[in-house]
Amino acid sequence: MIVGSIKEDLTVEKRVSLTPETVKNIIGLGLKVCVEKDYASHLGIGDNNYKDAGAEIKSSSSEVLNLCNLLIKVNCPPENEISQINENTILIGMLNPSKNKDQINEILKKKIKLFSLELLPRITRAQSMDVLSSQSNLAGYRAVIDCVAEFEKAVPMMMTAAGTVPAAKVLVIGAGVAGLQAIATAKRLGAIVSATDVRAASKEQVESLGGRFLTVEQSENMETAGGYAKEASDDYKKKQAEMMKEALKKNDIVICTALIPGKPAPRILTENLVKLMKPGSIVYDLAAEQGGNSAYSEAGKINTVNGIKIIGVKSLMNSLPLTASNLYAKNLFSFIRNLYSKEKKNFNINLEDEIIEKSLIKEV
Ligand code: NAI
Repeated sequence: MIVGSIKEDLTVEKRVSLTPETVKNIIGLGLKVCVEKDYASHLGIGDNNYKDAGAEIKSSSSEVLNLCNLLIKVNCPPENEISQINENTILIGMLNPSKNKDQINEILKKKIKLFSLELLPRITRAQSMDVLSSQSNLAGYRAVIDCVAEFEKAVPMMMTAAGTVPAAKVLVIGAGVAGLQAIATAKRLGAIVSATDVRAASKEQVESLGGRFLTVEQSENMETAGGYAKEASDDYKKKQAEMMKEALKKNDIVICTALIPGKPAPRILTENLVKLMKPGSIVYDLAAEQGGNSAYSEAGKINTVNGIKIIGVKSLMNSLPLTASNLYAKNLFSFIRNLYSKEKKNFNINLEDEIIEKSLIKEV
């Protein structure tokens, strides 16, 4: 059985699905690996590194597509690649089925088995495969680094002979995976950090990282049985906006990470709320590609309103492609290890396994 991977479209994606380390691990399972020539040279990883790890280097993507039984990708393949994938191949990636309906339908027609890792159940056994967590954690870190680079003041408090520099104040909206890492990173840089979330359970996590939790007083339970956020009611939104009014006047950097699975991003910062911030402040909207948590946010753009910069994030993982690839490749390896049966020397699509059943795309 051969696991193959080909280059992504470098104009939009710098991450790769296989690293030399995971090539070795996959070969250790009893599988073969092949990659397209110059697979990760843009990341400084040469073909010789893949060869040394045991992979075969093929001179074209067509050769890899023709040979492999399991194809691993970062993004959903485009039309010209789909037409070259053999029937009965297994394809694993972050395929974003709701966005790529046409391609997914095309792939399903070809009897290709499709697994999309964003659909994995968030259970303990699937943690090592959890791409949403591995990538969002990095996004939270990078959000702070980007904000600090754009912020025209120092972040930590400094007592100097010339006078005291006050610490910057950072507010994180949404304390999920990205939000918690943003809190931890901002604290490490010396900022005074506060955060808010609709889920009461996140208070303890925020406080354990040294952040102050801003509570919106309300009686509703805002959490689903699966631990995710529910959509906020109008009453909650009103109370949250009241709380934000004071918080926004005080904070220098606001990092927005609020998300409700399967829904457009909740709009939390209205135009009037954004305008309460001081000139020189920053709003960094990680949810920009899903519609944005903040007014004035546009994916891939920095808009300035009253001296406040509103940064709309796009393809953030391209700013950290090496770390993001290392973690993604490890997630993929864990998934492949669970899918491959050493005894049968074949992939075992066992639909009684929740990990396999939930991540397999049957229709879109
Ligand atoms: P998550 O689901 O772990 O966290 C989202 C948090 O928002 C949850 O804790 C939830 O309770 C909270 N929330 C929901 N509605 C809220 C509201 N109205 N007010 C306050 N909090 C609310 O999500 P994760 O993985 O941390 O991702 C955060 C955002 O970052 C998402 O929009 C995600 O798509 C984006 N992202 C973007 C990347 C990029 O490259 N552009 C990479 C990774 C993540």
